[in-house]
Amino acid sequence: MSARIQGGGSWLILAALALASGGALADGKAVFDKTCAACHTAGLLGAPKLGDGEAWAPRIKTGVEKLYASAINGKPPNMPAKGGASDLSDGDAKAAVDYMVAAAQKPPAKAEAKPSAPAPTAPVAATPAPPTTAEVNAFNRLLKPPSKRNLPPPEDGIHDPANDGTHILQPPLTAFDPLPRSTAGNRVNWVQALDGARIGPRWDLKDPAAAPVVMDLNIVREVKGSMPDVVYPHKQHTAWLDCSNCHPAIFVPQKGANQISMAAILLGQKCGVCHGKVAFPVSECRACHSKKKDFLPAKTAQQGGG
Ligand code: HEC
Ligand code: HEC
Ligand code: HEC
Ligand code: HEC
Repeated sequence: MSARIQGGGSWLILAALALASGGALADGKAVFDKTCAACHTAGLLGAPKLGDGEAWAPRIKTGVEKLYASAINGKPPNMPAKGGASDLSDGDAKAAVDYMVAAAQKPPAKAEAKPSAPAPTAPVAATPAPPTTAEVNAFNRLLKPPSKRNLPPPEDGIHDPANDGTHILQPPLTAFDPLPRSTAGNRVNWVQALDGARIGPRWDLKDPAAAPVVMDLNIVREVKGSMPDVVYPHKQHTAWLDCSNCHPAIFVPQKGANQISMAAILLGQKCGVCHGKVAFPVSECRACHSKKKDFLPAKTAQQGGG
């Protein structure tokens, strides 16, 4: 058997093999890595970590059926149904639970232990090392150290250093210097920069006179639990974006018609299509969760992470 756990495309082969031979655990790992790892690797929002026997023991005691139900239907306030991936089948969600339960019941594998390829008949011989947090969160820039921010174009991993044009581009730090600062992302407060006319982006490449249709409409999304409610402002978005950037592909234009969750956002869907990539990152909880609740819920202790 030539399939090896090396990341990338080989998982597909492995998952296919495992499925064919009933190896649900290997399949469960693929589901976990794609949909559950965002929270269950680092313990985000109080999620029990993969391989953390202590955190899982009391949950496993409640019975695996209960855990399946939590995975499929969610567990308020922070565990979303199917980890936010509504297209996941019940079987896949259960396979991911089986994988997590198995990982919690094994002694943690040494980091340098070689992940051996599970034979189709005896899936998952060794506990595969959970993906590092850097991999999981790379997309939302939460963990970038100051020395890695706003690198000059030849070093940013986006532009080709072998191309002469790369070297004549203005380095971001020079370009950003006169702009209002923020504490996250690329450290520029773009909303203020635009409001204060410090920048004047052209709305249309061909028509220099074209201007955006700015719509001032706030949508408040009530959040269960103790987090403040989310205020989604159309004004600041339509100053940059066209209605069709969001409607209807990302959001149906009807208040409350869209299911939005932190899980989806962290996985790069809904607000996460932009936030963490081209707009301020998910670490800025208060920028979105900006509306205080009228009352304090009795249970405030449940908000573990953040
Ligand atoms: C947005 C973060 C997030 C994602 C993504 C996520 N979980 Fe969770 N999960 C949590 C949190 C938080 C808890 C702890 C819930 C609690 O006990 O209140 C949890 C708990 C669980 C539990 C234990 C439930 C119980 O009844 O004790 C299971 C099982 C579980 N998750 C499975 C999954 C599976 C399977 C996936 C992927 C398909 C997934 N989770 C994706 C946040 C997440
Ligand atoms: C950045 C994404 C984004 C852009 C751009 C955007 N919208 Fe929206 N829009 C939303 C979100 C999010 C909601 C709330 C949906 C929900 O609550 O489920 C919404 C809701 C709406 C609603 C429903 C309001 C109600 O009370 O039911 C209308 C109408 C709407 N948008 C029109 C527009 C128009 C017109 C434009 C362009 C001028 C536009 N939107 C641009 C994200 C966007
Ligand atoms: C880009 C905007 C944005 C940022 C930044 C953001 N959230 Fe959210 N959050 C949302 C939206 C939208 C919802 C969905 C509200 C709803 O139910 O309609 C949500 C929901 C939640 C919920 C309710 C449970 C769930 O998963 O849906 C919790 C808890 C939460 N956020 C915590 C946080 C924490 C902690 C942070 C900071 C680490 C954060 N959020 C940052 C937009 C954001
Ligand atoms: C199509 C891209 C896109 C989507 C989708 C999107 N945003 Fe934004 N958002 C932006 C951009 C661009 C800005 C302005 C740049 C910045 O602040 O980083 C912005 C700014 C904001 C601001 C800052 C307003 C201010 O006054 O500083 C808030 C709050 C916000 N978004 C919340 C949300 C929430 C909540 C959602 C999901 C319901 C969402 N956004 C979805 C692109 C998007």
